[in-house]
Amino acid sequence: MQVPILDLRRQYEQIKKEVKREVLNIFETQHFILGENGSSLEKESANYLCVKECIGVASGTDALLLSLRAMDLKEGEGVITTSFTFFATGGAIHNAKGIPFFVDVNPVTFNIDPQKLKEFLKKECEKADDGVIHKMSKAKIKIVLPVHLYGLPCEMDEILKICKEYGLKILEDSCQAFGAEYKGKKVGSFGDASAFSFFPTKNLGGAGDGGMISTNDENIARRLKKLRVHGSERRYYHDEIGYNSRLDEIQAAVVRIKLKYLDEWNKKRAEIADLYRDLLAKIEEVKTPVAPPYSKHIYHQFVIRAKNRDDLKAYLDKNGIGNMIYYPVPLHLQTCFQFLGYKKGDLIETEKVAGEVLALPIFAELREEEVKEVIRQIANFYSGSK
Ligand SMILES: Cc1ncc(COP(=O)(O)O)c(C=O)c1O
Repeated sequence: MQVPILDLRRQYEQIKKEVKREVLNIFETQHFILGENGSSLEKESANYLCVKECIGVASGTDALLLSLRAMDLKEGEGVITTSFTFFATGGAIHNAKGIPFFVDVNPVTFNIDPQKLKEFLKKECEKADDGVIHKMSKAKIKIVLPVHLYGLPCEMDEILKICKEYGLKILEDSCQAFGAEYKGKKVGSFGDASAFSFFPTKNLGGAGDGGMISTNDENIARRLKKLRVHGSERRYYHDEIGYNSRLDEIQAAVVRIKLKYLDEWNKKRAEIADLYRDLLAKIEEVKTPVAPPYSKHIYHQFVIRAKNRDDLKAYLDKNGIGNMIYYPVPLHLQTCFQFLGYKKGDLIETEKVAGEVLALPIFAELREEEVKEVIRQIANFYSGSK
């Protein structure tokens, strides 16, 4: 039996009628950008996340980039983040003319380690009259950008406390975590702003690229609405240079339909994760992801740490079991970021997990027999390699 890492056709079967109706309706109205679907999705998302405002943009990457601009990041200012994330997190910082500073992860949660964040600020930075200065580069640190990786919320209480102490703003990267909760509150409602992605494979995905920003700060929201239309509030009058970054109506319509099912789908993902965890408990070479009791993990990905990961991957590939490595090369070791001056060994936990992680198939429609087949193949691999 082959098991796909993701099969979006199964989800489509469930929502086909609604998608066809709503998409055709857009063609009837011929209103493709900044219309009824976009504004309704913004309101519905704000309600869902319990925030004041949501602003649709063209992608999760743009959600990060525009947020950094709207949070007033200036050229050469620093943003502290994790190196163990999708490239866009670091790319957006650079494209916003900021400097990324990477802090190591907690190897159990895969998220930025608040303790290491504290140490970084204490040892490598100093407080000045107008904020926090990185001692060696003299960059002013302005923002902390935690990533809720794979759908597991970061330890927000600690992060909020540290950022308050140092006067730093927070931009959450919630691109993999729509619907995840930390102590009963949705991610995306903790920071000054938060970025979401509607890339089709996300747990809440559109039919193309799309993204959204949530915020409780009216000034940030206003600036974002301006930045997404080339920096103009009044048509053809521009007081800053912005972007062309809108969530189009077709994307908004599809995401609106899916938002109604999201809790049900996230719950199914969590049930599949529990089944994986039960069945994997017998295989000592594999560590399963944690779900701390205070957080609701939405399992955008189910990521194990595996002994002989690369051989296991090759075996699963050969036997038709979908799997992926998210992410094999941490940002601090990417060729394009060499100029930042990091080297191998700088972020020990990050580098270790990048060599061990493997994502297994997970999506709401994944069948129990398919999960069992994945486990059977993993067990076969380890019993054969003993
Ligand atoms: C953690 C993270 N940040 C940012 C992004 C960028 O989102 P997008 O692909 O919609 O630009 C993604 C998704 O691809 C992501 O997983």
